[in-house]
Amino acid sequence: MKNIILTGDRPTGRLHLGHYVGSLKNRVRMQEEASYDTMYVMIADSQALTDNFANPKKIRDNLIEVALDYLSVGLDPEKLIIFVQSQVKELTELNFYFLNLVSLARLERNPTVKSEIKQRDFSNSIPAGFLTYPVSQAADILLFDANIIPVGEDQEPMLEQAREIARSFNNIYGKTFIEPKALLPESKQARRMPGIDGSAKMSKSLGNAIYLADDKKTLKKKVMSMYTDPNHINIEDPGKVEGNIVFTYLDVFSNEQSFEKYLPDYKNLDELKDHYRRGGLGDVKVKKFLIKVLEEELDPIRKRRALYEQNIDQVFDILEEGSKKASAKGEAKLREVKKAMGLDYFTDQKLKEEIQDKYK
Ligand code: TRP
Repeated sequence: MKNIILTGDRPTGRLHLGHYVGSLKNRVRMQEEASYDTMYVMIADSQALTDNFANPKKIRDNLIEVALDYLSVGLDPEKLIIFVQSQVKELTELNFYFLNLVSLARLERNPTVKSEIKQRDFSNSIPAGFLTYPVSQAADILLFDANIIPVGEDQEPMLEQAREIARSFNNIYGKTFIEPKALLPESKQARRMPGIDGSAKMSKSLGNAIYLADDKKTLKKKVMSMYTDPNHINIEDPGKVEGNIVFTYLDVFSNEQSFEKYLPDYKNLDELKDHYRRGGLGDVKVKKFLIKVLEEELDPIRKRRALYEQNIDQVFDILEEGSKKASAKGEAKLREVKKAMGLDYFTDQKLKEEIQDKYK
């Protein structure tokens, strides 16, 4: 079987560390391993409009920001296809057919959409496009025959719905789609990065994110303000590591080499945690270590971003080129879909003959 990877992000803001460990890192790793036949990375501008329909400028402005983030983490347009959702019209067509395969009750049960509806102020008038975006997301995935979807944990309900739609389509119209699987980050902590304020999820809307494009000064300020253990007041006090965000981040980003380089008094994170628990280790020291660890990860990303920022023309070309390639793929698949549904009136010679026979 071919391995076709597809994933995407809504261009509602710059990408942050949650996106990075939740999905971008997996994409770069797979790109490096070349362990796939085709990889698609989609900027989901149409999906972003489902709850930003009144604010198209936000989406338009962030399209290039997300593209810059992609390129700066090392996604390579020579090795994968970066495209823009709204520029592939086959996606909307497939979405239209898929909408018949999903009930309203099923849409209302999607836990991610449910909690998003709670967060947003739709004042009891939920846009139909928002409620149905998991269907459109199924189209994103199934149009390209993608089987591996690197995403964060919150996207698992979308994948579940995509599988159901694929199954239902195949049952009615004949085998046309494969059932995609989510590829979650290996480490549990990376699946849901908490925000710097200690809340469960890093998110732009909560204002608790560290962005890939944050400069050195901003990064430092954010780490210094991070939520730790509120009862760890004096250095001598024993401290709690669980729920202490600085340690959660170290869980994700540090390794033994980081200790060798930046904090050689400790061999590894376990030793550091033990000291913190015992007491006698101050937050500032741990935070300074985390800054160094994050700098090592983010500095090359920033530098690559700066290069592309000076070549915006090239970034547009990459998106346009990628969208054309994605469209060509989509067109071919949609032909197959319409044939399966019997909507190939003008290319099906048999249909004409059957009707001619009927009226003979
Ligand atoms: N819903 C995803 C998010 O908010 C973005 C997305 C749109 C996506 N289409 C997709 C992710 C298809 C994976 C596959 O992050």
